[in-house]
Amino acid sequence: MARKYWFDNGLEDRYEIIAFNGSFHGRSSAGIAAAGSEKLTKGFGPLLPGFVHLNWADHEVIEAAITSKTAAMIVEPLQGEGGIRLLPDECLKELRRLCDDHGILLILDEVQCGMGRTGKLFAHEWAGIEPDIMMVAKGIGGGFPLGAVLATENAASGMTAGTHGSTYGGNPLACAVGCAVIDHIADDVFLEGVRRKSGLLRQPLESLVAAHPDIFEEVRGSGLMLGLKCKISNSDVLKACYEAHLITVSAADNVIRLLPPLNLSDEEITEAIARLDKAAKACETGPLTAQ
Ligand SMILES: Cc1ncc(COP(=O)(O)O)c(C=O)c1O
Repeated sequence: MARKYWFDNGLEDRYEIIAFNGSFHGRSSAGIAAAGSEKLTKGFGPLLPGFVHLNWADHEVIEAAITSKTAAMIVEPLQGEGGIRLLPDECLKELRRLCDDHGILLILDEVQCGMGRTGKLFAHEWAGIEPDIMMVAKGIGGGFPLGAVLATENAASGMTAGTHGSTYGGNPLACAVGCAVIDHIADDVFLEGVRRKSGLLRQPLESLVAAHPDIFEEVRGSGLMLGLKCKISNSDVLKACYEAHLITVSAADNVIRLLPPLNLSDEEITEAIARLDKAAKACETGPLTAQ
């Protein structure tokens, strides 16, 4: 969409997209090229050209990398696969400012961190900024497969009827499910509940880290998208959690992710902490893999 925007504005050489190290944008050919990590791209080349990879915290380097070829920047406000790495609000605001100053489009990938996950409908709302283009999926269908690309009228101006399409795009059943899910999630009372539950989960997680200093290093993330950085191999912790009947998922940077359903109960939070504690104790007594 970003490339088509510039093409229609007579600037077809403006195709480069700045993306960030540690990011994840899915497993399509463009998605792996956007993320650029060796783990994702190895064996799938040649990669789609036109992506530049930088560190999101280094704004001077980012500004210096913007050229007459730059079409857009793509960023996850809270990196999921990358290890639950939260972009500070100031950083996201600065990326928005850079895009505005240089007239380029800001693309936010909210596939994992959007749809109420951080306690606001979209994670970027915490920074008080708005994207030009945004991808959402996962939570939008509440488990039913659905994804969407949202854009401002200006950014979407090149996407006229017939220029692009998808076999399953706009599937009526999926969209009906999505509408029902959004009716629940985009509700202030529901989102306030997510923020409250986040506090209920986070506080004992901090205590858990303090109680098991050889197993955990820190709690990361926002809302109900939390991560525990591990001191031993995260796959050992993952396995111990599984044995304690708690499903977590690994992420880069030796992190395990906790992404519970947004409607989990207070009792389930207490139960999850008890199972995590059990898993950590098992790791302390069992054979450990050095990290
Ligand atoms: C941030 C982000 N973007 C995009 C995707 C979509 O991935 P895929 O296209 O492989 O379903 C995911 C899936 O985990 C994701 O976490």
